[in-house]
Amino acid sequence: MTEERYTASREWLARAERVIPGAHHLSGRVLTTPERSPMYLERGRGCRVTDVDGHEYIDFVMAFGAFLLGYADPEVDAAARAQLEHGSLLSMNRPQHVLFAEALVERFAGADMAVLLKTGSEATTAALRIARRATGRRRIARAGYHGWHDWCLPLDPSVPAGLDAQVLEFDSNAPRSLEALFEGHPGEIAAVILAPEMVLPPTREVFQAIQDIAHRHGAVFILDEVKTAFRTAPGSVQARLGLTPDLTTVSKGLSNGWPVAAVVGRRDVMRSAAGMHLSATYHGDTAAMAAALATLRIVDERGVADHVWALGQQLIHGLNAIACDLELPAMSYGEPFPPMPFLRFEHPDAETNDALRTAFHEAMLERGVLLHPRHMWFISFAHQRSDIDTTLDHARSAMKIAREHCCTT
Ligand SMILES: Cc1ncc(COP(=O)(O)O)c(C=O)c1O
Repeated sequence: MTEERYTASREWLARAERVIPGAHHLSGRVLTTPERSPMYLERGRGCRVTDVDGHEYIDFVMAFGAFLLGYADPEVDAAARAQLEHGSLLSMNRPQHVLFAEALVERFAGADMAVLLKTGSEATTAALRIARRATGRRRIARAGYHGWHDWCLPLDPSVPAGLDAQVLEFDSNAPRSLEALFEGHPGEIAAVILAPEMVLPPTREVFQAIQDIAHRHGAVFILDEVKTAFRTAPGSVQARLGLTPDLTTVSKGLSNGWPVAAVVGRRDVMRSAAGMHLSATYHGDTAAMAAALATLRIVDERGVADHVWALGQQLIHGLNAIACDLELPAMSYGEPFPPMPFLRFEHPDAETNDALRTAFHEAMLERGVLLHPRHMWFISFAHQRSDIDTTLDHARSAMKIAREHCCTT
């Protein structure tokens, strides 16, 4: 590959270095190197994006899951535009707030009420605050990525001291580790928050065991479905596994790129949010809610969750068959389910493994497929079987290149 392929991208990067600390936002981090992967994209439609150097890609990152239907969905964006005509934000409550809360709670078996927010980090932080008010306790137990707020990085020197004593981590695949936290802090843990992709394989028994431990010790169980809700057939991880968490956080997948998030949950717990300081200027933005209502209607009417499930399975099975055929140490799986597939390289030598992964991803980019080397991927409703076929054809070539490059066997 010539380094000229990403010239315009690198020019934008050089400009960014002068005005943006670190030259990127977190999600815009370089995939491999600025010389060998695109850093700036110009536009997206459906499941395709074009970079600033003019290359088109089938995209499996989908803005880190924010687009379930596909980029620039005409119906969703028209719904948001129509709402903009009436003022996206006014000085008081709007009927759309009630309609949106109603539409959300009817999708979660154990939910009666909703609090409306803007981002996943806000939703998880709000859920914890609600749980603290409901229980009168302060500490929490967590497993997974829940966002960027202070409590999510309790050991980071840039957050207030002492958070690590408040935010306790457990091993989601070993529920006994949660029991030990409760034993070490009797009557002090307000909530257990779990991101479903942390339980692999995602068996009902493990989730239920975690919820049961939380309840046995009087804590609120929060399932953080920010990534998984609406894209996991038949609607969420909890619907699939028959779970009824006390609170659920949702965001990506909800509004096809328009910023919106929510906490939904049982009335007796959610009631604690009444009168709590949970306020931001843009929480009431109805354009994003109109986009969300349009997204949910399409999700309901057109079998979106089944579509992304089937295509995720096709991709996972196809990648595993090629890796097996070429004797490449790589395994594809759903993280936690097929609509969120990933390919893990498994060479025992860490350096060779990194080289394999990088060679594979750079070859895929060169062939017009955008996959993330270190983060799960997302299938959208805009992806078609033919896109997966094309991706698998390219994956075969890219795996061959990776193998030749790195002499794995
Ligand atoms: C499970 C989970 N919770 C919370 C968050 C934070 O969401 P946001 O990035 O919108 O703040 C994320 C983001 O990836 C997530 O995956």
